[in-house]
Amino acid sequence: MSHDRAFINNVTTRTIEISCGVIYDYRVKYNEFVELRKERREQQQRAYENQQKEIADAKEFIERFRYKPTKAVQVQSRIKMLEKIVPIEVDEVDNKTMRLKFPPAIRSGNYPVICEGVAKSYGDHTVFSGVDLTIKRGEKVAFVGRNGEGKTTLVKCIMGEIPFDGTLTIGHNIQIGYYAQNQAQLLDDEVTVHDTIDNVATGPIRTRINDILGAFMFGGEAGQKKVKVLSGGERSRLAMIRLLLTPNNLLILDEPTNHLDMASKDVLKEAIQAFDGTVIVVSHDREFLDGLVSKVYEFADGKVREHLGGIYDFLQKKNLDNLADIGRMKGAPAVQAAQDKASAGKDDYEARKEQERRKRKVQKKIDDCEKEVERISKEIKDIEEWLSTPTGAQNPAMFEAYGKLKNDLAEAEKRWEEAMIEGESL
Ligand SMILES: Nc1ncnc2c1ncn2[C@@H]1O[C@H](COP(=O)(O)OP(=O)(O)OP(=O)(O)O)[C@@H](O)[C@H]1O
Ligand SMILES: [Mg+2]
Repeated sequence: MSHDRAFINNVTTRTIEISCGVIYDYRVKYNEFVELRKERREQQQRAYENQQKEIADAKEFIERFRYKPTKAVQVQSRIKMLEKIVPIEVDEVDNKTMRLKFPPAIRSGNYPVICEGVAKSYGDHTVFSGVDLTIKRGEKVAFVGRNGEGKTTLVKCIMGEIPFDGTLTIGHNIQIGYYAQNQAQLLDDEVTVHDTIDNVATGPIRTRINDILGAFMFGGEAGQKKVKVLSGGERSRLAMIRLLLTPNNLLILDEPTNHLDMASKDVLKEAIQAFDGTVIVVSHDREFLDGLVSKVYEFADGKVREHLGGIYDFLQKKNLDNLADIGRMKGAPAVQAAQDKASAGKDDYEARKEQERRKRKVQKKIDDCEKEVERISKEIKDIEEWLSTPTGAQNPAMFEAYGKLKNDLAEAEKRWEEAMIEGESL
């Protein structure tokens, strides 16, 4: 209950902290206590992140192999694991009360984006045509549709990155904040995570850089990493934070939630809700879009249709439960990272070709693994038959071989499983 640090340090040799209803007793001075508490939080944070990843992996596995009889046992064991898991809690820092407010920007014209008869073709493949849409200042809209229906393509047209037919008018005084996958490539490799943000943050938000980094899963020492060592997902996340701290009045976010966990999605969503500019979000994430957008543009069959109302109205109208039903949800993080890599420097088309090549390679791996599993299983069966005979049962070498085969089988199954996961996610 005292706020005088020097005083506390001189009189205490023991510090008791109450956090999230748990009492922690440290037999140290206050200064050291602060240090220890920080360490403990960092440990918790790491453990929490590991656990989240474990949970996500298990859930993904269950989804993928739910209907595969050969995987029934593994699926069951993962379901059990999930039931048993005790969620790790990270002591409260400021994350829960974290409110991100976009820096103010100049007011834009009344109509940030107007499309009139916009069309885009690659060779004789027409991605879309006859696109008419008007986005007013302050509106928040979603672009939804199956993979490959042209959402990113229209975004690129709006950004003036690719040529197109028709008329596209960008309003007055528009400052666009664009979040795309290649956004992550624009970061400076030699700078740390912390400094990347420190370099763009201005105003009162500067005092909260560490909180912001923490809220987007760069807690603790992660802030000191150089950008060049970050994974594709981490780079994307960092690019997102940077965007949030730059003044804009039109945000165009192409699948912004791909690399975020639930907590950071919430922070992002609240920030967008509080943003008084105009927003276009491309997303397959129903929960994220809910309560965020008031208009939905549906991309399908070469056309773009406008639906007034939120995402639930849209789904209801379409008789869908889920956006995944009109478009497969974007794949696992691993795929995303692979796609990020694939599209770095190349265009989508090249990336897709690369994807095809990878698919064939993985399919071959799956087939090979499957054969291997079959072969070992057969050998095991043979030995089991042997072992059930009186002579076989007395042969120690046989038992040894049997044990080894069981191990081989487990390993081969693991490889098979990994190949399948890789394959399904492509
Ligand atoms: N450079 C290119 N050359 C040829 N075709 C391309 C090129 N870029 C994109 N396409 C094609 O245009 C179509 C639309 O692609 P786009 O990336 O806009 O889809 P999307 O709706 O954003 O899909 P997703 O939900 O997967 O992100 C696809 O069929 C794609 O193969
Ligand atoms: Mg896209």
